[in-house]
Amino acid sequence: MEPIISAKTLSFHYGRHHKAYVDNLNKLIAGTEYADLSLEEIIKGTVEQFGKVAIYNNAAQIWNHTFYWNCLSKKGGGEPPAALKHKIEASFESVDAFKKEFAAAAVSQFGSGWAWLILEDGKLKVVKTANAEVPLTTGKKPLLTIDVWEHAYYLDYQNRRPDYVNAVLDKLINWEFALQNIG
Ligand code: FE2
Repeated sequence: MEPIISAKTLSFHYGRHHKAYVDNLNKLIAGTEYADLSLEEIIKGTVEQFGKVAIYNNAAQIWNHTFYWNCLSKKGGGEPPAALKHKIEASFESVDAFKKEFAAAAVSQFGSGWAWLILEDGKLKVVKTANAEVPLTTGKKPLLTIDVWEHAYYLDYQNRRPDYVNAVLDKLINWEFALQNIG
């Protein structure tokens, strides 16, 4: 992913942060009613449930990170494939207008969180979520995301979140994955 995202960032992000969520969740659910459920079932079963915040946060962050890794590709960026381009143009007028709106959501998310391209009621939309929150608990279908927690970019970009977001959108974003998610 270099020079957009360094090996050092990825090794900490995947090897430490993502791994910590997995290790924490495994400990939290051992011997509980959640131990044999799928990740999505755990997320949907614990969202906004009293006393289940730690399980939800760790489960949602595992889901979010796996989704984010799929959104990055060495062959990504540039022009979206025609089928996706037409859908983006139908909802945002142009690919550039979409990228601008997506970057604005990513940059304006206060503190930690995520920017998303989602499908809702047949229309593509940009939303942002805080901390571990994931759109699939509110019936929205995620198509793309960018992680805007500081751990995603601070080693490479320090406080320049807009530079990280725009570089990912221009050079790494995996349009093919978004198209697959539309189904
Ligand atoms: Fe992250």
